[in-house]
Amino acid sequence: MTPDIKPLVAGNWKMNGFRNSLTELGNVTAGYDAAMRNRIDMLLCLPATLIFSAAHVALGTRVQIGGQDCHFNQDGAHTGDISAEMIADGGGTAVIVGHSERRTDHGETNSIVKSKAEAGLRGDLITIVCIGETEAQRKAGETLEVLKDQLDGSMPEASTAKNVVVAYEPVWAIGTGLVPSVEDVKEAHAFMRENLTARFGSDGAKMRLLYGGSVKPGNAEELMGIANVDGALVGGASLKAEDFLGICAAYEKLC
Ligand code: PGA
Repeated sequence: MTPDIKPLVAGNWKMNGFRNSLTELGNVTAGYDAAMRNRIDMLLCLPATLIFSAAHVALGTRVQIGGQDCHFNQDGAHTGDISAEMIADGGGTAVIVGHSERRTDHGETNSIVKSKAEAGLRGDLITIVCIGETEAQRKAGETLEVLKDQLDGSMPEASTAKNVVVAYEPVWAIGTGLVPSVEDVKEAHAFMRENLTARFGSDGAKMRLLYGGSVKPGNAEELMGIANVDGALVGGASLKAEDFLGICAAYEKLC
């Protein structure tokens, strides 16, 4: 945690969820509003097909809805893509860009991720920029170098503490049940804080830095207790209301 930064717990449903999954979303919103004391922000990033109806379910609750990617243009001939403005039009208030699955599956480079992040800001969305090293890079001792390269190349110049969130997600920890040691998370987040503060001044000092990769109710408290970890980006465990709320509860307890 960082003093004076309100943590964010963001869920990423990835390519999961049909209309009937909105019942689970209803369980999240009801459970969240009933049990939490507004010490953390909560966001669920859903497949594009569900954003509009999910925003309706979440209307009037403290749960925000977001998208998982956006094109860097506002509109045009880009078959299969959606823009930041479309996410906003559907009721979304946030977008994830540069997730390692996009970087790997769709060949997204730092400069593409940066354009997408700029689009997120243009669309007035809270923009979550993901970075993280692969297993091979960690084993080769290149982790901090990779993080620097991704931060330098993917963060928009107009990033502020209000409009941008950075998520550190070691690729080898995503969906594997493997989690880096507390020391490793601490080192990565301290490095990110230093880099962002050097570049963005007080905004960098206050920007929310999320940890992502196999976050579960059982390890959330330990992860959140690490300096400069200001929340979580949660994949698998965000699909079940009970697990996701368990993570939020662990974080709220510390605030
Ligand atoms: P996981 O995914 O929680 O299933 O490991 C995290 C992510 O990819 O954001």
